[in-house]
Amino acid sequence: MDRILAPSILAADFNVLGEQIKVCADKGAKYLHFDVMDGMFVPNISFGLPVLASIQGKEDLVMDVHLMIEDPIRYVDKFCEAGADIVNVHYEACGNVQTVLDKIHGCGKKAGITIKPGTSAEVLIPYLGQAELFLVMSVEPGLGGQAFIPGALDKIRRLRALLEERGLDADVEVDGGVYHRNVRDVLEAGANVIVSGSSVFRGNIAENVSAFVEIFKDYE
Ligand code: DX5
Ligand code: ZN
Repeated sequence: MDRILAPSILAADFNVLGEQIKVCADKGAKYLHFDVMDGMFVPNISFGLPVLASIQGKEDLVMDVHLMIEDPIRYVDKFCEAGADIVNVHYEACGNVQTVLDKIHGCGKKAGITIKPGTSAEVLIPYLGQAELFLVMSVEPGLGGQAFIPGALDKIRRLRALLEERGLDADVEVDGGVYHRNVRDVLEAGANVIVSGSSVFRGNIAENVSAFVEIFKDYE
């Protein structure tokens, strides 16, 4: 199973966004995590379609779009057209989860289901064979730079076990409060896609990405 770093540009300097994304790609990040907030599902507003359209395709990175928006089916087509490779929707924000997954797949893209810290892994059971990725939030969505909620580790373990019982090897992604000092805990719990905002973009980006990639080598 590949261990993948997904830098979250929520923590980037938007005045030099392209340069910072290039450094991430050059140093070994494979995904780029794109946090969309609508001011409704979460109490914040970030960025959206024109930003995705302008950065997609510039580097060899998988565009991992995390839709923190109400009723995300309304925007699946548009984010796919703008360059999403993976569309993550919140379980809590969907009317009918299966319909949203079908819509994403109908656009030819990978689907992810995200759960908030208060949502149990068990709700994902009906969809384990229906999505390519499951995203466990380890902070309340809406803001970067928060502290990792330790209960996420058990949830990651449970989710990985549920997948393995069924012979499924979907990606398990973790998002929020992951730093070099605690990334081994989430890898050992069974996550393989690591979102990181603050611990990539605060300080020296090249060194930060390289340090994650070095840690991942211990798990190859
Ligand atoms: C939070 C976002 C995260 C955030 C992570 O709502 O989904 O992707 O950017 O930031 P850090 O790594 O700073 O916790
Ligand atoms: Zn995110």
